[in-house]
Amino acid sequence: MKIGVLTGGGDCPGLNPVIRAVVRASLKLGHECIGLRHGWKGAMENITMPLDRDAVSGILPRGGTILGTSRTNPYKVEGGEQKVLETLEANGIEALIPIGGEDTLGVAVKLHKAGVKVVGVPKTIDNDLPGTDFTFGFDTAINVAMESIDRIHTTADSHSRVLVVEVMGRHAGWIAWYAGVAGGGDVILVPEHPFSVEEVCERVKRRHDTGKNFSIVVVSEGAKVATNEERDEDGSYVLSSMKKDAFGHVMLGGVAKVLAEEIEDRLGFETRHTVLGHIQRGGTPTAFDRVLGTRYGVRAAELVHEGRFGRMVALQGNKVVDIDIAQISDKIKELDPDLYKVAEYFAD
Ligand code: F6P
Repeated sequence: MKIGVLTGGGDCPGLNPVIRAVVRASLKLGHECIGLRHGWKGAMENITMPLDRDAVSGILPRGGTILGTSRTNPYKVEGGEQKVLETLEANGIEALIPIGGEDTLGVAVKLHKAGVKVVGVPKTIDNDLPGTDFTFGFDTAINVAMESIDRIHTTADSHSRVLVVEVMGRHAGWIAWYAGVAGGGDVILVPEHPFSVEEVCERVKRRHDTGKNFSIVVVSEGAKVATNEERDEDGSYVLSSMKKDAFGHVMLGGVAKVLAEEIEDRLGFETRHTVLGHIQRGGTPTAFDRVLGTRYGVRAAELVHEGRFGRMVALQGNKVVDIDIAQISDKIKELDPDLYKVAEYFAD
């Protein structure tokens, strides 16, 4: 069988280990692979590359994706689905392994309904996809963020400053929580719990009242400011831009800057902000992400071999299982409330 492989959405450390594992396992099982470049763009525009043993040699430790990626949505393009079907036909592709998040795999769900044989591999550094305990890329991201927070500690201490560190996490606070706890952040703000600037300032002040000369606030880019006192409503994003991507998501970023200004104005403590941004997504994957990516890739190839389509690989406990790919469109996986409670013990 000829298997098409593509990577869509934001890149993520661990994508190359998945691609390598898909190719190596598929070859062993008697199949061949072909790469569709730049996510669904390549699938629509027939941009392909060979994916043989040579093509995946040496890519295990490499960040990013050798296939390239994009946030192209074929269902937002006139005749997009038909174009994808034509590319598959033209290349003799009988099965597709898309590697991506809710947007990329959401397209795969629709194509599966249109008769395409798909097996999905979940991917996001945000770790917010339902049905799987962890996604690859997350471990690398939290280690990068943790190390950055360690570094920020020493400069915050030397200058007696408050440092607000913005990390990725569009809808969920997994990165902020893990990196914040591992890095000893004093206040951790996540999208699941809209925050009030007053309370953040109170916490920072309480800490400084006990004699501490600096504080670290870790904030998810998707953290929202509470819009009512009970903080039981959705809250609103703090945005520096109103731009949206092809899947309709607002481009986040800006909360750390605004919060840092507020802290300095209200408390009079010298405050700076740092946005870690794409540093969290770049570079070489950790051992955990290489291993998880490899396990996902092997299982995806096996599912194709077994003829079990419309499935998505997932990590549950320490087992790689497969679940209905349609589950990807369900609610996002929010930060576990028990984890959130742990961080609360370290506030102020
Ligand atoms: O979904 C993964 C993610 O890294 C989010 O955390 C972030 O909001 C978004 O991608 C950034 O996307 P882009 O690279 O397109 O700016």
